[in-house]
Amino acid sequence: MWDYSEKVMDHYRNPRNVGKIDDADAIGNAGSLTCGDQLKIYLKIKDGVVTDAKFQTFGCGSAVASSSILTEMIIGKTVEEVRKITNKDIADELGGLPPEKMHCSVMGYEALEDALKGYVDKDEIDTAYDEINKPKTEEKIICTCFGVTENLIWDAIKQNGLKTVEEVTNYTKAGGACGKCKSAIQDIIDTYYHKEKKDKAEEKSSLSPAQKILKISSIIDNKISPELQKDGGDITLVDIDGNSVFVKLRGRCSGCKNSTLTLKAFVESTLKDAVDKNIEVVEVN
Ligand code: FES
Repeated sequence: MWDYSEKVMDHYRNPRNVGKIDDADAIGNAGSLTCGDQLKIYLKIKDGVVTDAKFQTFGCGSAVASSSILTEMIIGKTVEEVRKITNKDIADELGGLPPEKMHCSVMGYEALEDALKGYVDKDEIDTAYDEINKPKTEEKIICTCFGVTENLIWDAIKQNGLKTVEEVTNYTKAGGACGKCKSAIQDIIDTYYHKEKKDKAEEKSSLSPAQKILKISSIIDNKISPELQKDGGDITLVDIDGNSVFVKLRGRCSGCKNSTLTLKAFVESTLKDAVDKNIEVVEVN
């Protein structure tokens, strides 16, 4: 039996904003009855602010609770703020969901994204015109059993830090029936983490000298020093000159016969990993 938070139970038993808005400014759909869950969300928007939101859902208690809390989260917010809401925000607002039910929060996010995709603010008309005239590219379906697209899987991985196919199944349902799509899901996970690694490497190489100093100092204070303190030692940053980082070991680390090992295998390798592979750590007395 799954463990539900009080808030999930409350929104399931007393769902807010159930129904339909006849003159809605934006409508979004997610899921399908053949897949077991479906959500339709209606938004009323005035001067760029969501003034009302209602939903109709066919699904389990978590789907009802996710949809209900989502409507509360967006009423009163600007469209720009609403566009930033992720499935993780929905689950967090509910006080968490069991892993196997995270797909309900993803369904909320997906319906919201669908509604805003179709919504055009008056100020955005020119941009929208360009969008409409752009050649349409069909979204690639990865899981035909549940109609889950590549974009949705990518977003779920990115927003929730998913690392395994099983986690992707919990969050999106993809892979939860015949399983034929599992290798394609694994490919998306591999591509995502390869890209993230590349992005981080590019971010590292684009640091200005001042940003580099700040980053080194922050890593020493927040990551390296606390680790050394656990064994009664510590470290102080003395100076930075290009890629040379001068430090002083303190407490138990000072004069320890393993200090060179600590400096090279821990301090230097942590900084190389996080900041620049050319960093060299030098101990001063
Ligand atoms: S194609 Fe994804 S479970 Fe069947």
